[in-house]
Amino acid sequence: MEKKKILCVGLVCLDIINVVDKYPEEDTDTRCLSQRWQRGGNASNCCTVLSLLGASSAFMGSLAPGPVADFILEDFQKFHIDVSLVSEHAQCVLPASVVVSSISTGSRTILHMNRNLPDVTVEDFSRIELGQFSWIHWEGRNAEEQVKMIQQVGIYNSTLPQPQKITVSVEIEKTREMLNQLFPHGDLVFVSKDVARHLGFLSAEAAVRGLYSRVKPGAVLICAWAEKGADALGPDGLILHSDAFPPETLVDTLGAGDTFNAAVIFTLSNGGSLQEALSFGCQVAGRKCGFHGYDGIAGKFDN
Ligand code: ADP
Ligand code: FRU
Repeated sequence: MEKKKILCVGLVCLDIINVVDKYPEEDTDTRCLSQRWQRGGNASNCCTVLSLLGASSAFMGSLAPGPVADFILEDFQKFHIDVSLVSEHAQCVLPASVVVSSISTGSRTILHMNRNLPDVTVEDFSRIELGQFSWIHWEGRNAEEQVKMIQQVGIYNSTLPQPQKITVSVEIEKTREMLNQLFPHGDLVFVSKDVARHLGFLSAEAAVRGLYSRVKPGAVLICAWAEKGADALGPDGLILHSDAFPPETLVDTLGAGDTFNAAVIFTLSNGGSLQEALSFGCQVAGRKCGFHGYDGIAGKFDN
């Protein structure tokens, strides 16, 4: 029997990455060390990392046809990511980010624009064959529609024995009030440092403690906090923590959070414990910060 896939629903965009030795002053003319195009977007990056770790992944999102879409589709193919659920919207413009990536600090400054590309709708979602997936991860975007999609998975799951149920994870990364409605809808919820801070929490531990009442009974809440690592809280009430695994030289933190999420999902979907998932998430994300892009994360990790 073929192994079921992990589906990530959310954004794919073009990242135009400008690598500089230090972050420029406003109104100056800077020469970059290098410039590259990269496929980006949280859900799309998550698929990349899942695939590099050895999982079968699928991406569901929107594209606007044209040369940029061709570049993106070719890159999905390179990573063996299933794109059969991508919908194309003629007349739209593909979202893009201009990224300034500073090698002196590893910081990534993102300028993002999405002119008119619509997100996946519940109608799109209702057409998919859920039986091919073991796990579905939503990058929080059009939350109201996403809640309806997750409810469809709930109905699907209600007829199945535990091992065949689809696990649902959601990521609440942006400080948009409407995304907070996703908290009670994941078996696993990732809340970002940005959102945690916005809601008044000063550490990952404070965030998972303070926000746990918002998740559904039995769910796990995880908060990553850059160089401080990550914390998690599950139904047993025990706070778990992993320190970060800083690379020898901090080079590029773009997509560190997406890498962390993918490595956590990878571990849990293979039956690993929550502590193992947190540690592996930090290990893989830490390694990612030591080089540009994602390719270098493949390879052995110490346990
Ligand atoms: P993002 O800003 O991309 O959402 P986070 O700040 O949430 O990323 O970090 C996710 C994970 O990436 C952290 O838990 C940590 O393991 C790793 N990470 C991020 N920044 C660093 C860093 N400067 N040094 C070491 N690890 C890091
Ligand atoms: C990284 C990322 C980039 C993209 C931006 C969108 O997490 O997904 O690839 O440009 O965030 O917010």
